[in-house]
Amino acid sequence: MARTNTLQGLLAAGLAAAALAPGCKKGGFGEDFAFGAAVAGFQVDMGCPTIPAEECEDRGSDWYQFVTSTVAQARSSNFLSGDPVGRGPGFYELYEEDLDRAQALGLTHFRFSVEWSRVFPTTTRGVEGHEALLAVASPAGLDYYRRIIAALKARGMRPLVTLHHYTLPAWIHDAVGCNQDLTRCRPRGWLEPDIATELAKYAGFMAKELGPEVDEWVTENEPFAVVLPGFLQPTETRTNPPAASLRFEEARTAMLAMIDAHAAMSDAVKAADTVDADGDGEAARVGIVYNVTPIHAKDPDSALDRRAATNIDHLYNGLFLDAVLLGVLDDDLDGVGEPQARLQGKTDFLGVNYYTRVVLQGTIDSLFPDFSPLATFDPLTLEQGAVYPEGMYEVLTRLQADYPGVPLVITENGVDVGAYPETDRFLAAHLQQVLRAKDEGVDVRGYYYWSLMDNYEWNHGMGMRFGLFSVDPDAPAKTRAARPVVEAYRRVIEARDVPADLAVE
Ligand code: FCB
Repeated sequence: MARTNTLQGLLAAGLAAAALAPGCKKGGFGEDFAFGAAVAGFQVDMGCPTIPAEECEDRGSDWYQFVTSTVAQARSSNFLSGDPVGRGPGFYELYEEDLDRAQALGLTHFRFSVEWSRVFPTTTRGVEGHEALLAVASPAGLDYYRRIIAALKARGMRPLVTLHHYTLPAWIHDAVGCNQDLTRCRPRGWLEPDIATELAKYAGFMAKELGPEVDEWVTENEPFAVVLPGFLQPTETRTNPPAASLRFEEARTAMLAMIDAHAAMSDAVKAADTVDADGDGEAARVGIVYNVTPIHAKDPDSALDRRAATNIDHLYNGLFLDAVLLGVLDDDLDGVGEPQARLQGKTDFLGVNYYTRVVLQGTIDSLFPDFSPLATFDPLTLEQGAVYPEGMYEVLTRLQADYPGVPLVITENGVDVGAYPETDRFLAAHLQQVLRAKDEGVDVRGYYYWSLMDNYEWNHGMGMRFGLFSVDPDAPAKTRAARPVVEAYRRVIEARDVPADLAVE
């Protein structure tokens, strides 16, 4: 999201415009729109061709322990593929060549996650102050993130750094133990009373270490995708440790902890990153990434279905967004929030992950009245997962209306080629909806495709493939190949528009 409001930026934009071929329309996204791709550490690092597995793999994360545990794999309610992590794309070793591909495609931005457990494989409890934290941090972990950032800089690309993308260190979350017995396990991850404090410590540490080269930070990725499959309903589509079912009290505790942790991490990053890396006058912009999902009534003429859509929209989207964007907290999940000074002013931009919509039918009573009076839907009628490009427009316009003044960045959008092979059409159709919203004045500043290359898709392992570049998980060199979407994306970036022959009716 580098802005071109500096003299240098204006000059660069002017020069780029002057270099245009006569008759070529420069429009659509504009010169300062960020085009990128996104990855997450757990998903891409593993599977190095030659670096030994014990260095390549971050074995201290809860997700690592969860997917590699034969006990967890054996429980069908965990929906684990059992795919060996060594089939991953090995970005830990191959990042230079992957970033070469990103650069050749024209990407100006790259989103990746720092893995808390890679930097702090052992506890930070009781460790206070930067020097003391540095003494317990993993030099190899820190060095890896410095090298990625240097590689981005060398290619003229800007980093967007996610601090928490689902994974927690095992010293704060016993994923396998909590999966077996959530009441008695220790440590309990998002249920640990000091998790926001420890996350803030880690966030401030990273912001000080990487701040001279990083201006854009994301505290958390998709918090609802931690709470729902983690404490309420793990499904084949997505599970998340501890993968507990219908644990309402714990779900509420985890949700409130994630809201508090966002505020605490935001403060810590702002305090620690005081260096303006891109010269636009701001040292740190802190956002959160949310999977904003349109919730539709199955029958728009049914008052019951419409009420269900409104209610579930609040539980799924509005509740968390109101808390982090407005500082208004509905802590008893009844649809009515109260302003909380401690949560206000913590979010400079919203990262939007857009994949699909939900369609549902209503019920008179709440399914889980003790949890929330708003759960008035029939889970058996729920439909999701369809490719629905219009939802991109719906989400962007809705966010602009509900949270005016909050800049938006699409931090993930992509599709599993196994389910939808026409990735070039997918890209064009979704970008057309971004342009539609932008033309109506929505402040959307960037788009990151998920993902740069095929990667270890959580419980699915290498069984779902979202990459711009495919990865052969069984080839020792983890060979990559461009999918048709690469050429489509390259042309979009070059034109800063969706070229007419790519556009989808
Ligand atoms: C999102 C996650 C990302 C990836 C994509 C397919 O929910 O943020 O890590 O798994 O889905």
